[in-house]
Amino acid sequence: MFVKVNSATLVGVDAMPVAVEATVSAGIGMYLVGLPDSAVKESQDRIRSAFENCGLRMPGKRLVVNLAPADVRKEGSAFDLPIAVAILAASEQIGADVLKDYVVVGELSLDGAVKPVKGVLSVAIEAHKRGYRGVIVPAGNVEEAAVVEGLDVIGVGDMAQAARFLNGELSIEPAAFSMPAHDGEVPYPEDFSDVKGQAHVKRALEIAAAGGHNIIMIGAPGSGKTMLARRMPGIMPPMSLEEALESTKIHSVAGKAGSQRGLLMQRPFRAPHHLTSQVALIGGGSNPQPGEVSLAHNGILFLDELPEFGRSVLEVLRQPMEEKGIRISRAKYSVEYPANFTLVASMNPCPCGYYNHPTKECVCGGGAVFKYLNRISGPLMDRIDLHIEVVPVAVSEISAAASGGESSAQIRRRVMAARDVQALRFGDCEGVYTNAMMNSRMLRRFCILSPECSELLNVAMERLSLSARAYDRIVKVARTIADLSSEPEILPAHIAEAINYRSLDRESWGR
Ligand SMILES: Nc1ncnc2c1ncn2[C@@H]1O[C@H](COP(=O)(O)OP(=O)(O)OP(=O)(O)O)[C@@H](O)[C@H]1O
Ligand SMILES: [Mg+2]
Repeated sequence: MFVKVNSATLVGVDAMPVAVEATVSAGIGMYLVGLPDSAVKESQDRIRSAFENCGLRMPGKRLVVNLAPADVRKEGSAFDLPIAVAILAASEQIGADVLKDYVVVGELSLDGAVKPVKGVLSVAIEAHKRGYRGVIVPAGNVEEAAVVEGLDVIGVGDMAQAARFLNGELSIEPAAFSMPAHDGEVPYPEDFSDVKGQAHVKRALEIAAAGGHNIIMIGAPGSGKTMLARRMPGIMPPMSLEEALESTKIHSVAGKAGSQRGLLMQRPFRAPHHLTSQVALIGGGSNPQPGEVSLAHNGILFLDELPEFGRSVLEVLRQPMEEKGIRISRAKYSVEYPANFTLVASMNPCPCGYYNHPTKECVCGGGAVFKYLNRISGPLMDRIDLHIEVVPVAVSEISAAASGGESSAQIRRRVMAARDVQALRFGDCEGVYTNAMMNSRMLRRFCILSPECSELLNVAMERLSLSARAYDRIVKVARTIADLSSEPEILPAHIAEAINYRSLDRESWGR
């Protein structure tokens, strides 16, 4: 008998339909065809053992299983369950009628248990798009898939359960649709009010969050850079439903959705260590996986101690920062992952850490500071809009009982208001949501400078020997500062503040 079970494979962050076909005929042996990789080939052994342990039997005949379309490489273990179901149906141990209504994915363990797999949210979205009634998925993946409305999500714990469900002997309640309340208020455990003083750094982080600007903090050890960066997610605007789905899909494909349960509501915050490899940072590998830049999609990529990252590792960041996505081509595959993140970086100003320190002396020799900074290439620096120096606060201030000022929620409200202004501004510019994303044409259209502003900017460029690349950055940041104070025009005060955020561009730095 010939049967077909609907399943899916992942291409990038999306699922692509795969039909698992099976026939049983006279003869012996099991043949798996249709470009399976080694994990898929091994499924034969897992299925055999799972059948034995669940009281099901392998047909003692010639069994051919084909994964169609045959020209797409199938990888991973998610085909175990659909192949097992196809074998059961082809050998008439279960009815084949309901199979057309469902998309099936799942890995089997030797005892017949169905184990979670990656990318179930993408599979559920694809199944819904193609009009299937439901999906049959591992019980451990149910919450992820249940985010898709109007789809019966059936979670199965083991092979026997799946067989009895498909045979109509067992009814399994579809998982309840579990969209979390989306009121925008997602509490974040680490709050800005924990940080004493540092008002100007908090202000710069607020501007970064409001305009989507990349930011770098430069300061002595223990000045609070890491502490401040870790509080950024708490002041970021909430994710739209569309953004939340996009981010959850990436985490699901990377197999990292498990701990989050259902839809990801908090903007991602990724802080890879400086010894992270290129592949872990941008994605790829022998079986393609999204990297840190994609896991940070719609959120923050925090690179602590930026100069400590390998230069080649930092260089690969340029493409995703420019294109808001990453394309990885290898001999065996070519995939694309989204990667639209805000970069937050921190660094010491020099190898000893005390250059420009109010009380301690820097012991680095002449040129060492400049050399340290130069570990970060010009093109990467060019994509960072805000440079802020972090000076340690006095011990007396840290030990004072008073709290550190405004809470994250208060700051966040201003950020959200500024984002609303930008949403209106970029209504007809597709794919542009924030001031940081403006190209030079938009800059000329939306950031018209008054003669006073131009004059101020020109004088500052000359007096402070700002490099040429600072010019557009200053205007963009000034636009965000104006938006934060609900000002339709950019005023000289906004330009002046923006100029302050270009310390590393001053050609005197480190000399
Ligand atoms: N402004 C502050 N308010 C409250 N605590 C602070 C402040 N600044 C520093 N601290 C304390 O000092 C600790 C060290 O700060 P943090 O790790 O953020 O420094 P850093 O600038 O990242 O240093 P390094 O360059 O060595 O990485 C914090 O965990 C915090 O306890
Ligand atoms: Mg630190």
